[in-house]
Amino acid sequence: MTLVGLAAGAVLAAVAIFIPWLPDEASREAGLIDNAFWLVTIICAAVFAVVAGVSVYAVYKFRAPPGDLEDGSPIHGHTGLEIVWTVVPIALVVAIAVYSGVALGQAEEIPEDHTVIEIRAQQFAWNFTYPGIELQEGRQLSSGELVMRIDDPVEFRITAEDVIHSFWVPEFRMKQDAVPGITTRTVVTPTKLGTYPVICAELCGLGHPTMRSQARVLTAAQFDRWVEEQRRLAAEGASAGGMELFAQQCGSCHTLADAGTSAQTGPDLDSVLPGQSAEEIRESIVEPDAEVSQGFQPGVMPGNFGEELSEQQLDGLVEYLRESAGGGE
Ligand code: CUA
Repeated sequence: MTLVGLAAGAVLAAVAIFIPWLPDEASREAGLIDNAFWLVTIICAAVFAVVAGVSVYAVYKFRAPPGDLEDGSPIHGHTGLEIVWTVVPIALVVAIAVYSGVALGQAEEIPEDHTVIEIRAQQFAWNFTYPGIELQEGRQLSSGELVMRIDDPVEFRITAEDVIHSFWVPEFRMKQDAVPGITTRTVVTPTKLGTYPVICAELCGLGHPTMRSQARVLTAAQFDRWVEEQRRLAAEGASAGGMELFAQQCGSCHTLADAGTSAQTGPDLDSVLPGQSAEEIRESIVEPDAEVSQGFQPGVMPGNFGEELSEQQLDGLVEYLRESAGGGE
């Protein structure tokens, strides 16, 4: 039985170690979370091996011979055994609780000097605002994609407009609910350059699986260039303002060659826009469910752009879309 147990343990350990089960670790917090995850997994695997091993052994060893229809001999309990199977699980559960509590405390620790990014979730899009970074006079930088500096601790302040969503970047490991009416927080210090998915991890409606964006981790110099680029776009005229708005609000779901976006959650605008009048484009933005492109579901695109955007922004966006789709004729 010991030999079988050792062999099974070796196979299990190989499967655990040699297959990359978890996404990349791209944050300081990821290592802490993964250690807690592996601690729980190892304890569970060990408990399972003991219970399954004893069960299989008992079934084999104490099987009734053919034709034996007698009752088994009565058993009156075993105090020593009962103490063991009470004390061991208590010790394991307490160990898991203490370890996880310490890891969570360390993960949520944040130095005085850190960046704050506000996250607003709504059906079915993300918006990231950077307090303290001005785009224009009195206007904060905000974006539909999450852009961060490597090794810069970020405190996310998260809220939702409509229903409960959940902010999750698997490579960062930290996950936090976005709840209407309150602000939740979590802390991430990205440690690896790259682009990672931002995923909504709470069933929030028909468009839930499409509620995705991306997190880009840049060097400090690249980040500054990105901020400058956003400022330049904001400072340009109405049409360029439309492009900037498009990138912030629409680009995470729609493909548009002119704006350099390639998302496929919503219809490909390079193919559905040509030939549409300004009125039709405006209706598609303000009242997205009035007419839905073939192959797409109503109720996925947020219906509140009419209230979210100012009349001027809406005009800029419509004009930009007409121009980019066919010269505005
Ligand atoms: Cu938002 Cu699921």
